[in-house]
Amino acid sequence: MSATQQTLVLIKPDAVRRGLVGEILRRYEAKGLRPEALELRTIDAAFADRHYSEHVDKAWYPPLRDFVTSGPLVAMILSGDRAIEAVRSLNGATDGIAAAPGSIRGDFCLSNRENVVHASDSPESAAREIALWFGSDV
Ligand code: CDP
Ligand code: MG
Repeated sequence: MSATQQTLVLIKPDAVRRGLVGEILRRYEAKGLRPEALELRTIDAAFADRHYSEHVDKAWYPPLRDFVTSGPLVAMILSGDRAIEAVRSLNGATDGIAAAPGSIRGDFCLSNRENVVHASDSPESAAREIALWFGSDV
């Protein structure tokens, strides 16, 4: 199936602190994905709770919330053919140790929390997350 999609992607605060923004963006662009919106943001706890609404009751959520609010991150909308699947594939598995070498997480982290990037996991979550982060801008 071929279809142009949009997906919401975050370069998380660990990656911004470590100077990985350019390298990560380079990989998305090299694949053929294009930014339609891109902004440096620092989010508060209430916004984190909305973004991670499916996870707020998990035992590991409080430290995740502390992490994602710990400094600036880069929020973006990427577009391209099957962009949701394409970005999830480039990002790799959630746990950086399990993530395949060559993927962003596989190459740049050892953590299942501070794992460099986020991306929408379905058309429904992409629509919800794009509306949350970029509202009526796009
Ligand atoms: O980000 P992804 O969709 O791959 O994973 P998730 O299962 O939806 O979890 C969302 C985020 O929560 C992960 O990317 C990790 O940053 C974090 N997480 C965590 O802190 N501890 C876990 N045991 C699992 C996930
Ligand atoms: Mg997820």
